[in-house]
Amino acid sequence: MTEPASYIYHADNLEHTAQLAAHLACHFEPGTVITLDGDLGAGKTAFSQAVAKAIGVRHVVNSPTFTIIKEYVGDHLPFYHMDVYRLSQDEADELGLDEYFFGEGITLVEWSSLIVDLLPPERLSVTIEHAGDTERVFRLTPHGQPYEQWCTELKENGILL
Ligand SMILES: Nc1ncnc2c1ncn2[C@@H]1O[C@H](COP(=O)(O)OP(=O)(O)OP(=O)(O)O)[C@@H](O)[C@H]1O
Ligand SMILES: [Mg+2]
Repeated sequence: MTEPASYIYHADNLEHTAQLAAHLACHFEPGTVITLDGDLGAGKTAFSQAVAKAIGVRHVVNSPTFTIIKEYVGDHLPFYHMDVYRLSQDEADELGLDEYFFGEGITLVEWSSLIVDLLPPERLSVTIEHAGDTERVFRLTPHGQPYEQWCTELKENGILL
């Protein structure tokens, strides 16, 4: 099977990272799933915070490493923020992640590559790489519709490369 196409976004600073989050947030709907991978300090949580802000979450969003899943209320949609870095396979099975993935809200999963078998087939995969102190390269890989359409649209609008 051929890999889906990927799209690139260069962020020079945190503000540019927030702009990408805001562009994506325009397309969110119940059941949106975005996975976030990249080294420690790449910016997975920073990106999640920007997403939360874009959808009107008023609570402080911090790393859910020890709680694994945190739920927030946005203007129109619930926001589920996961960090599966410390999750064992047994715990993952017990958590019933599908309830979130196929639920009413939008889900962001930090360190998703650790639970790849449990991810829904349709999702937007985002990997973040350091490219300097405040520079980051985002690679977006859409798996299925509507994510393919989001990416093509953002490319047409000159936001993604
Ligand atoms: N362009 C940028 N995009 C995202 N974060 C940036 C950017 N420039 C600087 N930063 C900083 O990089 C750090 C990223 O840390 P963050 O906690 O988001 O990483 P993480 O990928 O979630 O790491 P972990 O795997 O430990 O959870 C933050 O301090 C953030 O302010
Ligand atoms: Mg984090």
